[in-house]
Amino acid sequence: MHKAGRSRYGVAAAYWQFAREFLRHPRQIGAVCPSSPVLARRIASLVPPGRGLVLELGPGGGAVTAALLRHGIAAKDLVLLERSDALVRQLARRFPGVRLIHGDAARLASYDVLRSRHVRAVVSSLPLRSLPAPQVRAILDQISAIAGPDTVFIQFSYALHASYLGMARGFEREFSHLVWRNLPPARVESFRYCMQAAAA
Ligand SMILES: C[S@@+](CC[C@H](N)C(=O)[O-])C[C@H]1O[C@@H](n2cnc3c(N)ncnc32)[C@H](O)[C@@H]1O
Repeated sequence: MHKAGRSRYGVAAAYWQFAREFLRHPRQIGAVCPSSPVLARRIASLVPPGRGLVLELGPGGGAVTAALLRHGIAAKDLVLLERSDALVRQLARRFPGVRLIHGDAARLASYDVLRSRHVRAVVSSLPLRSLPAPQVRAILDQISAIAGPDTVFIQFSYALHASYLGMARGFEREFSHLVWRNLPPARVESFRYCMQAAAA
């Protein structure tokens, strides 16, 4: 199992950098604190076993990344995609050996690695409630574009009730659950790509 990202220094530095980025770009970061370990573990537990890539969108300080690796996702199967320059630099230091794309979730289909292998799961911490609506639409369309049979899309948000915000075309909701031990409490939802729903 990948051991990176576990040192106290790594975790403290991640918190500090995250707070700085929030002050600089509040809408893009969309959260005052990194995800709690409980939330991160809950998200990781929803990734199905099997073959194919696990794509993490908006890994930020790496709390969910660390949980995914601890959950047993092989580093070679994990792809991180983050937009913030500062957080990308920090992720590269904290998770050497994990593929990291400095890019935009609204352009997923333009990244070769995401077209060349089946994507088993898309794990998103993107702040869909604070990003501009056209950008959210573009991101959800791109998730549908790289999905294949049974791709699972996991999204968390600070919505108390389940919403259709995280619904990408062709996906059907499978699971929705509130995690109280996070600041603020977060809703984790998972969706599965279904060829029939995509064709409808
Ligand atoms: C809520 S924060 C991530 C929280 C993360 N789970 C953690 O614990 O640190 C959202 C992240 O999404 C990133 N982000 C926002 N829009 C993005 C986009 N279009 N493409 C890629 N990353 C994006 C932000 O830079 C930020 O790091």
